[in-house]
Amino acid sequence: MKAKIITIDSRNINRKEIKQAGEILKKGGLVAFPTETVYGLGGNALDARASGKIYQAKGRPSDNPLIVHIADMDHLESIVQEIPEKAKILAEKYWPGPLTMIFTKNEKVPLETTGGLDSVAVRMPNHPAALALIEAGGGYVAAPSANRSGRPSPTTAAHVAEDLGENIDMIIDGGMVGIGIESTIVDFTEEVPTILRPGYITQEMIAECIGQVNMDKGLIPENEHVRPKAPGMKYRHYAPKAPLAIVEGEENRVIHTINHLAAKAQAEGRQVGIIATDESMDQYRGGIVKSIGKREEEETIALHLYEVLRQFDQLAVSSIYSEAFHTPKMGQAIMNRLLKAAGHTVITVPEQNEE
Ligand code: TXA
Ligand code: MG
Repeated sequence: MKAKIITIDSRNINRKEIKQAGEILKKGGLVAFPTETVYGLGGNALDARASGKIYQAKGRPSDNPLIVHIADMDHLESIVQEIPEKAKILAEKYWPGPLTMIFTKNEKVPLETTGGLDSVAVRMPNHPAALALIEAGGGYVAAPSANRSGRPSPTTAAHVAEDLGENIDMIIDGGMVGIGIESTIVDFTEEVPTILRPGYITQEMIAECIGQVNMDKGLIPENEHVRPKAPGMKYRHYAPKAPLAIVEGEENRVIHTINHLAAKAQAEGRQVGIIATDESMDQYRGGIVKSIGKREEEETIALHLYEVLRQFDQLAVSSIYSEAFHTPKMGQAIMNRLLKAAGHTVITVPEQNEE
């Protein structure tokens, strides 16, 4: 089956086409759609068979639960046991938006959708085409990121077509997404609300609204051996085809080290890929250099991360070296994804280097 691709203008939604897409969902089919974070692969969340199809199309392990997307606050009430007061406050502030919250589910949500868990992750995305599709499809759309399992999340419809074009019914092309990394996940089934995945909405922003919020211990880079609570966070996700290493340290030393590694590879007849910034890219002497954006513009860095990783998959590079991006707000989310893509391979350049 080859996916039908429709183009939707977010400022002027074609209701007839969205209705067609909604019909596919109601019949148990799969429709990929844009959200503000990344593209999602949607199926009816209340239909166990549709969830099964999502796992199959993605090649995703069936213990990795799906996020249920809603377009209306009343729909949250109808699928969870209870909504804690603090979750209501966060929803008020950040929904629709790049925030997913986890609650104890009720019997309406099949275990196939939640990977066998008695909790359910819920999000109201901030994208007109997504909201229109959710409404047209019956109100509850299970949607993981629309990539083949293990590939970088898709930020354009072309990425979706590349990974899933042969396995799903429809792709809604709404252009490039706005954020580029997946939503922040906050678990409300814990005594203290806990972040299971960092994203655009930071720990600080959440704490400002509801007070104490913990970070899942498995997310802290030093705790590499602690298993993250979100099943999906334990996999070596977003893995580019060539091995990736992050090079950390003082900027000039990092550039020098990567140049050295690139020269060494070239001497052995290999080509390396380099993930740089607009400011640093001209200082690299070998390899294929791609800029992820301006170092000061962290939102641009987040937006281009997965795209750059995919570009290197198209090129025959033997390894990839990336600068680190510990930016003020989204740095935690960006580095979480980059570290996973690198399988936690980090080369730390000593500060002082006497040569
Ligand atoms: O931005 C996003 O969240 C995108 C767009 C499409 O909405 N979706 C997305 O879904 O990133 P996915 O399936 O790629 O990632 C969902 C993550 C996984 O790590 C999964 O293990 C975790 O959420 N998750 C889902 N339900 C959970 C639950 N009940 N308990 C713990 N973790 C859960
Ligand atoms: Mg994903």
